[in-house]
Amino acid sequence: MGNNNPPRLELRHASKSFGRVRALGDGSLALWPGEVHALLGENGAGKSTLVKLLAGVYQPDSGELLVDGQARTFANPAEARDAGLAVIYQEPTLFADLSIAENIYMGRQPRDRIGRIRYDEMNREVDALLQSLGVNLRAERLVRGLSIADQQVVEIAKALSLNANVLIMDEPTAALSLTEVERLFSIVRALRERDAAILFITHRLDEVFALTQRLTIMRDGLKV
Ligand SMILES: Nc1ncnc2c1ncn2[C@@H]1O[C@H](COP(=O)(O)OP(=O)(O)OP(=O)(O)O)[C@@H](O)[C@H]1O
Ligand SMILES: [Mg+2]
Repeated sequence: MGNNNPPRLELRHASKSFGRVRALGDGSLALWPGEVHALLGENGAGKSTLVKLLAGVYQPDSGELLVDGQARTFANPAEARDAGLAVIYQEPTLFADLSIAENIYMGRQPRDRIGRIRYDEMNREVDALLQSLGVNLRAERLVRGLSIADQQVVEIAKALSLNANVLIMDEPTAALSLTEVERLFSIVRALRERDAAILFITHRLDEVFALTQRLTIMRDGLKV
């Protein structure tokens, strides 16, 4: 693509074992702004392990992680998040008894001078964010009862509100209906146009062709 800038995020020859299980033998991947990168591979190929290395959940046994061309280590997920990364896992990680806005602003709610949460401001910002994603959800709604697809949208909104510019989605479409997949794809395309770097893990080739500019295929913990 004639791209002279370094990738936003890159993993080079990373490996990871758990005891005697080699989950990832040699994982390499580069994510550029404005691109959707698909990661394919059968069950157990090491895809989720690779994602967790990118996200600071695990540290690689060997290999290198680079952010904007600079070698980095993420000691934990918070460090990855501070570097602009957000991961949307297949199993949503939201709190059911809190509102959408409370989930998005968890731990960093806007407060007034005497420490009260500014719900008006929080809800207004979240409504604007949800509207910008083109979804019919309101900030004050409780998460309980939301479909998986809607919960993913809330996770995406949360990522944007944290100013994430790398979004990693681990098999986001596995539990979605066809219309929900279409809605997710249009959101992903909009994020790409906003110059996010996106990693999209899937089993399905039709999704790859609908959405992505680059492709990595893994088998038995190796890039093939
Ligand atoms: N924490 C762990 N402890 C032990 N083995 C693990 C661990 N995590 C992953 N593995 C093993 O490592 C291999 C790769 O797993 P991983 O979850 O990365 O594959 P995957 O490509 O995401 O598969 P799937 O398509 O089923 O999600 C598998 O054999 C798995 O059983
Ligand atoms: Mg997996």
